[in-house]
Amino acid sequence: MIVIGSKGFAKEILEVILEEKYSSSSLLFFDNINNYDENLLFNRFKILVSFQEVQEYFKLQTDKRFTLGLGNPHKRKKLTAVFEDLGGLNTTFISKYSRVGSFDVIIGNGVQVMQGTVITNSVMIGTGCLINLNCTIGHDTKIGSFSELSPSVNISGRCTIGDLVSIGTGAIILPDVAIGNNVTIGAGAVVTQDIPANAVAVGVPARVIKYK
Ligand SMILES: CC(C)(COP(=O)(O)OP(=O)(O)OC[C@H]1O[C@@H](n2cnc3c(N)ncnc32)[C@H](O)[C@@H]1OP(=O)(O)O)[C@@H](O)C(=O)NCCC(=O)NCCS
Repeated sequence: MIVIGSKGFAKEILEVILEEKYSSSSLLFFDNINNYDENLLFNRFKILVSFQEVQEYFKLQTDKRFTLGLGNPHKRKKLTAVFEDLGGLNTTFISKYSRVGSFDVIIGNGVQVMQGTVITNSVMIGTGCLINLNCTIGHDTKIGSFSELSPSVNISGRCTIGDLVSIGTGAIILPDVAIGNNVTIGAGAVVTQDIPANAVAVGVPARVIKYK
């Protein structure tokens, strides 16, 4: 099992992975730019530093799982493709300290649901999404692939969130709102109206300040 990255979010997803039993030798990290002594995270977990090492690992091991240890939807999408090409299997992690509805919930490959998050019923979450700490996702909401909810984001019912969307910490999305692909929503925003693709929107109520 390889975590891609060894800094920020990699340290956070580690706790979710460790909710299951892992020995130090069966849990590795990948980071080709790290400053840790002897390429060890927390003096314990080995960090692979080249794609060749990753490829060899996947070739030799029966466990070909990997998960993303970094934010940024575009980087997550790119590295997922690279690791799949190297023979890896993108794996979903749902913290046992989150709650996921019992009915009509579809969660894609490689999705990460962090501690404290509540997902209700009739929710669809696309491949590679990161649903960070303490988020809520209301009924009949659909989130596209590789989108990212920062901590404490609240998405109301019947929302549609596109692919590669990044929603900043503490933002609130009101019911029935549609957010286009590749949108960034600023921390603390309250989104009351639809946001077009490629926009950056901030504030209360959220306004588009620029396009990417
Ligand atoms: C929205 C965001 C992406 C904009 O970043 P940026 O493109 O670098 O934009 P700038 O910092 O140049 O800000 C542009 C303007 O928007 C304002 N602004 C930026 N973020 C804002 C926010 N969250 N709420 C209100 N206004 C904001 C700035 O004050 C600036 O205003 P000005 O032109 O009047 O000076 C960023 O500020 C943000 O909120 N990111 C979310 C970070 C986050 O939650 N990370 C979680 C990690 S787990």
